[in-house]
Amino acid sequence: MNKEEIKPGIFWVGGIDWNLRNFHGYITQKGSTYNSYLIMDEKIVLVDTVKSYLFPEMMERIKAVADPEKIDLLVSNHVEMDHSGSLPMIKELLPNAKIVTSPQGKMGLERHFKSGWDYQVVRSGDSVNIGKRNLVFVQTPMVHWPDSMVTYIPEDNLLLPNDAFGQHIASTERYDRQMEWGMLKEEAAKYYANIVMPFGPQVKKALETVSSLKIDMIAPSHGIIWQSYIPDIIAEYSKWCENRTEKKALIVYDSMWGTTECIAKRLLSALQEAGIKVSFRDLKYNHISDIMTDVLTSRLILMGSPTLNNNYLPTMGALLTYLKGLRPKGRIGLAFGSYGWSGQAVKFISEEMKKMGWDVPLEGINIKFIPESGELDEVEEVGQKLIEMLND
Ligand code: FEO
Repeated sequence: MNKEEIKPGIFWVGGIDWNLRNFHGYITQKGSTYNSYLIMDEKIVLVDTVKSYLFPEMMERIKAVADPEKIDLLVSNHVEMDHSGSLPMIKELLPNAKIVTSPQGKMGLERHFKSGWDYQVVRSGDSVNIGKRNLVFVQTPMVHWPDSMVTYIPEDNLLLPNDAFGQHIASTERYDRQMEWGMLKEEAAKYYANIVMPFGPQVKKALETVSSLKIDMIAPSHGIIWQSYIPDIIAEYSKWCENRTEKKALIVYDSMWGTTECIAKRLLSALQEAGIKVSFRDLKYNHISDIMTDVLTSRLILMGSPTLNNNYLPTMGALLTYLKGLRPKGRIGLAFGSYGWSGQAVKFISEEMKKMGWDVPLEGINIKFIPESGELDEVEEVGQKLIEMLND
């Protein structure tokens, strides 16, 4: 197995999950990696591990560099099992190795493994000397778990931020320069929208800390390592964490017999003719984790469903549940839909948008059975009002 030396004496020893397609509900079309790093110094340090089923792969990579039994310290930046799942196996080999982690990290690892391991608990600003290098720790609570922390190595200008700046991409390439920025940005955006979005204020605080550090490499725990696009990805994170959106619209809907889709298309053509960029997503064909990437950057969000059994369709219910958890702020919302007799779906969608703190300035569009041409003209008028609001 080839050695992957990312800095002199520091090696990527992670696992590649080529066939991962669902990461707790997040559709990972490109698979993922779990990135572990082996630091060869007077003390040998392993930073984070991999999912348990990739333990043999991580061990092969470690063995290409060093005798695994010589590892002195295990740094656990984050408890979640994609990074800690192999800890019990490696601890069997290394009964005397300490685990360096945050206070919440210790609590979380003990709750998972009930092992009584030997821990060295660190807090923001603490450092551990390993020879020529120091490992400096910064706690980043809720980016994205309470235990989350990052490891900084000032001698190498290297930040190991665990989940922050990650992307779910399985690849033989390790560096951003080996891939196209547009694709990386899209995957990093999807990752942010689905994993990190609820924690904007905490991300902002973490970015302030990061900006005071000298960094020429950011090596996250998923996907490629940032080296050539560091200012670019930090600029994107700065926008995302403040909920800064673009003059863009997302139309997301499901339809039973075509009327809700007809309204969606009328709104699409109005926005398109005004030169507004629109993402048009039918919930039957688009996964909610992909739709979140559109939510991340769209200021205007139009959500449509017919009424079924006095409510919106289950597909819309799933999206609303997911949205409420991820808590995007500062959007302009509009609900639309169709009905045969009771017609509550539009009202319920509007209410959910308001509960999320969105601006819902217009009454939703709700059409009975099949629209008449005058009703479609009214849809067009609503579209024009939304364009004016977006242009304000
Ligand atoms: Fe990649 Fe929160 O684990």
